[in-house]
Amino acid sequence: MKRFAHVEKLDALDPLRHLRNNDVDVDIVPAQPPSIINQTTQLVFPTSRLDLKNSHHAEADMRTPEDIVINLSVDASPGCGGIAWPAGEVLSRYLARRGSLRGRVALELGSGTGLVGLVAGILGADVWITDQAPLLPIMTSNVALNGLSSRVRIAELNWGTPLPADLPAPDLVLAADCVYFEPAFPLLVGTLAELVPKEGKDVEVLFCYKKRRKADKRFFTLLKKEFTWTEVTDDPDHAVYSREAISLLRLTRRR
Ligand SMILES: C[S@@+](CC[C@H](N)C(=O)[O-])C[C@H]1O[C@@H](n2cnc3c(N)ncnc32)[C@H](O)[C@@H]1O
Repeated sequence: MKRFAHVEKLDALDPLRHLRNNDVDVDIVPAQPPSIINQTTQLVFPTSRLDLKNSHHAEADMRTPEDIVINLSVDASPGCGGIAWPAGEVLSRYLARRGSLRGRVALELGSGTGLVGLVAGILGADVWITDQAPLLPIMTSNVALNGLSSRVRIAELNWGTPLPADLPAPDLVLAADCVYFEPAFPLLVGTLAELVPKEGKDVEVLFCYKKRRKADKRFFTLLKKEFTWTEVTDDPDHAVYSREAISLLRLTRRR
């Protein structure tokens, strides 16, 4: 009981500490935030045309013209979303493998750097990447850096607030590494529910999540009121990221 009170106190002081700490519910010394300021990194995601299993080439030779290459400006100073988080990389990799999104309208929640949405844009979707105001500049520069201004748009969207009128109704909703701050749990569930109406066209929701703390299950208790979900298992990397406590879920709205 005493330990629980201690954990709650640390959470109140620093809600993001679990994101910087891979040890679930271990808090001897609060981890330091990564000192990443205004750097550019490159991430490569193989598409389905690259059969890695049959490749005998060294890693450096594996890149093919079909790979999706994202140049990403990263900067932790506007908030935790300014760097690429593991669940975002897993979701990006899954989308790249799965192939074309031509004709789809995708909306990403809590985009941070915009990584997942940028991959969706390269795959041909019309994309809206969204986050809170401090992240919009880094999202804007990443869209420009990857030459995707015609296909990937940026909008401020705070969970739990009404959807901006100019956002289209998406048929694909993406979210990665968005479960970490308990006061935001009902807000995120509310926005997901608003994006996926009970009636009307089907909306695919891909929700990638890394379990870091026991309190995360409170998010799923709330989510259960509005959605059911299944784990995506048609991903060859599934066994690898499962070991890192990452799950890729497909959510379905309760009707
Ligand atoms: C851990 S980061 C993940 C970023 C990115 N999806 C990734 O995987 O790299 C969580 C993101 O959720 C955003 N976020 C947190 N609370 C939010 C809220 N209430 N409304 C909108 N976005 C929020 C943060 O700004 C941050 O960009």
